[in-house]
Amino acid sequence: MSQIQIVGGNQLHGHLRLSGAKNSLLPIMTACLMVHGTVYLHDVPKLSDLTQMLHILADLGCTVNLCGDTVKIDVDELYTHVINREAAHKIRGSVFVMGALLSRLGQVELPFPGGCAIGSRPIDLHLTLLRQIGVKYHCHGNIISATYQPRRHRKPTILTLDFPSVGATENIIQATTLGIAGNTYIINGVAKEPEVVDLCNFLNQCGAQIHGAGTDTITVHSVSQLHGTKYTPIPDRINTGSYLIAVAATGGDVTLTNTIPEHNLNLLNKLKAVGAKITTTQDSIRIVMNRRRSQHFNVHTAPYPGFPTDLQSQFCVLTTITKGHATITENLFENRFRYVPELIKLGAKITVTHNQAQINGVSALSATPTSQLCPSSYAIPAVHQCVGTTVTAHDLRGGVALVIAGLAAKGTTTIDHANYIYRGHQDIVKDLRQLGAHIVALD
Ligand code: UD1
Repeated sequence: MSQIQIVGGNQLHGHLRLSGAKNSLLPIMTACLMVHGTVYLHDVPKLSDLTQMLHILADLGCTVNLCGDTVKIDVDELYTHVINREAAHKIRGSVFVMGALLSRLGQVELPFPGGCAIGSRPIDLHLTLLRQIGVKYHCHGNIISATYQPRRHRKPTILTLDFPSVGATENIIQATTLGIAGNTYIINGVAKEPEVVDLCNFLNQCGAQIHGAGTDTITVHSVSQLHGTKYTPIPDRINTGSYLIAVAATGGDVTLTNTIPEHNLNLLNKLKAVGAKITTTQDSIRIVMNRRRSQHFNVHTAPYPGFPTDLQSQFCVLTTITKGHATITENLFENRFRYVPELIKLGAKITVTHNQAQINGVSALSATPTSQLCPSSYAIPAVHQCVGTTVTAHDLRGGVALVIAGLAAKGTTTIDHANYIYRGHQDIVKDLRQLGAHIVALD
């Protein structure tokens, strides 16, 4: 079992460069299945979810080569429409293969997708939209088999999402991108997340005709073929947010580069409210945190541009050590408070009722009884000898929240099941050490 161990209490200082967004790269990688030719993806972080996705592509017939942070994907003929079960079970993103393969091959067979255990994560919205364009599917056991033969339409096909699901939006875009040239699909109520825009930008660079990404309505004019391209995805706004929250929790002065400030406006305003000095350029954010102000927060997670569910747990940590009272309402995933009992072990005052957490800020979190506090001159290799508090990660973002809590807490925090964290943050230990944190990864 992989673990991360932290001796908390250090401020963070320095510079960090962000990598490409996992949640952009997953659908962009499946979209490569629709291309005839070669795609170069730059700035690709080494994450277990992305590696799994590349395995899925290779199993289907793509030739995948990695060189540093560039991935080269050659797509000529695909061997099969059947997705590797083991890989698909491991990542939620495997569901995007559905739209891409229906577009390219007219058929697909895949198991219900896996992913972090943050809720029931149904795919009914994906299936409803696919059925509306004429996809026929049936489920047997845990397997979905689907076929699709697009027909020529004289008029645009109008589709409407009941809820702006990111995945369902990305799936229907892919299912309609390739097809009978001249067919038009107007998709209302779509997700406006930057990752959706990124997927559309990538596809358009490959020859697709998609308009309206970033608004409530996306129009897809199907094309008969896509060509290869070179593409750099947007930087990861969730990892950006996590690091900003970490600095707000520990104090310090950190500049993040290769980031897009406008993707985190909601969070930046909340960090300013708690006393952070934020300065931005087009592609960097500097955060200086000297003293946290008392603050009352009322945070509701919501689709973009609302407060992201993927930063809910990390932000909660900040509220636990901010004088005042906070209410955090989780509106997207029902299991997103599994980190709370772990934070309580560190002294946080939180109660959860249904989808709402009430937090009373304390002056500090503490991982170690005072008598066992580590010396302030603590050297990293000696970390193992420290006695502290062990907490358990249950999912990626909740795990990152525990890392932030460990950085802010007095004493030593050991995080079990750190493998969840590496799904989206392979270099978290290296990054935080670069900023002066006392943190090690243990196998
Ligand atoms: C994506 C992100 C995830 C993020 C989430 C919300 C990826 C790979 N993952 O997940 O990190 O937390 O957006 O920003 O991009 N729903 C249904 N039926 C469906 C689909 C979704 O009821 O068919 C519900 C979900 O259970 C959830 C809500 O809609 O309550 C949002 O889900 P969705 O936007 O689809 O998230 P994902 O695409 O799974």
